[in-house]
Amino acid sequence: MKRIVISTGGGDAPGLNAVIHAVVKSADSRDWEVYGSRSGYLGLLDPDELIRLTPEKVEDITPTGGTILGSTNKGNPFAMPVENLAGEIQIRDLSERVMKNFNRMGFFCHIAVGGDGSLEIAHRFATEKGMPVIGVPKTIDNDLEATELTFGFDTAVSTATEALDKLHSTAKSHDRVMVVEVMGRESGWIALNSGVSGGADVILIPEIPFDTQVICRKLTDNELHGKHYAIVVVAEGAKSRNGLTVIQDNDKCAVGRQEVLLGGIGEWVSRQIKECAGKDTRTMVLGHLQRGGSPTTFDRMLALRFGAAAVRMAEAGQFDQMVALSSGSMKAVPLAEAIKQRKKVPLDSDKILTAREIGICLGDEY
Ligand code: F6P
Repeated sequence: MKRIVISTGGGDAPGLNAVIHAVVKSADSRDWEVYGSRSGYLGLLDPDELIRLTPEKVEDITPTGGTILGSTNKGNPFAMPVENLAGEIQIRDLSERVMKNFNRMGFFCHIAVGGDGSLEIAHRFATEKGMPVIGVPKTIDNDLEATELTFGFDTAVSTATEALDKLHSTAKSHDRVMVVEVMGRESGWIALNSGVSGGADVILIPEIPFDTQVICRKLTDNELHGKHYAIVVVAEGAKSRNGLTVIQDNDKCAVGRQEVLLGGIGEWVSRQIKECAGKDTRTMVLGHLQRGGSPTTFDRMLALRFGAAAVRMAEAGQFDQMVALSSGSMKAVPLAEAIKQRKKVPLDSDKILTAREIGICLGDEY
C-alpha cells in the first residue's frame, strides 16, 4: 500500500480544503493512503501531529474556508524557532528530523500546498534532502509566476469587490474619501481587479509607485465635476515614489516569520489626502476577511483540479515540480522555476489600460 503525506503552509486561502479533498479521493481511488501533516511541517516533526485522512473525513470539506490541517508562516524546518531550557528562542535546523519521520512513516511523496515561502522550503527538501515533493500553488495574492492563477484569488477579489460596492453609498452620503487597504504584498492583482470592478477612483499597486500630489489632483478634479466622494483602493505593498512602504511593528512576532508583516499604508494615504485635498477621509483595512469564507465556484474547481493533478504527478514520479494552470490545462513546472520570481501586473496589460481609459487614477499620472 502506497502512502503520501499532504501539508498546507503559509497564509491560508479559500480552496485549501478542496485541494485536500481531491488529493484524498484521487489517492484513495488508486488504493493509496493519505496522511495530513498539521500546521505545515509540524506533523513531519512530530508524528503525533500526523492525521490519517480517509475519504469519509474529507467528504464535505470542499465548500469550507481555511484548512482542516492548520497552517503557519513560521514553520520552516531549516530555520525553526525553538525555546531552550533558559526560555530563550534559538533558530535550529530540524530538517533531518523531518526526513527521518518521512522515511519511518513510509511516505513515497509529499504534496506541499503553499505560496512562495512554502514552495521554496519544499524545493530545498527535494534538492538538499532528496524528499520526493510535489508543489501545489496557493495564495490569494496570485503572485506566483509559473501559474496563470492560484486558487483563493477569485474569492478574495469577490470579497473585496463586494466591500467596495457597499462603501460607495456611505462615502456618497458623507461626501467622504474612503481609502480601502487590500492584500497584495508584491503584486497588485487584488487591488486592480477589485478596484476596476468595484468602481474605484484611485488604485495604488506595488508595481506603480504613486505620488500623493497626483492622487489629490484626481480628487480635486472629481470635485470640479461635481463628484464629492471617492473610493481609493491601496494594496498593502504599494510604495510612494520616494520609496515609502508601511510595515507593522512586528518585533514581538517576527521570530521565525518568513516575511515582514505589511499594513498601514491605507491610513498613511488617507492622512495625505486629508492634508492635500482637504477632504474628510476614512480608512478601512479589509485584511484577513479576504482570506476567509467559502471559496467561489471558480476557486473550488481550480483547487480540485490542482489536487487531482498533483496525485497524477505523484503516480508519474514527477517530483520537485509544481502543478500549474497553463492555457486552461494542468501542467507540471519545475519548483525551481516556480519560485524564481513573483508575478507582477504587467504595466502594458489590458487591465491597466482599461483602468486608465475609464478614468481611474493609478497614482503615477493624472
Ligand atoms: O501572502 C498572502 C498574505 O495574505 C499577504 O497578502 C499578507 O501580507 C500576508 O499573507 C499576511 O500574513 P499573516 O497570516 O501573517 O497575517
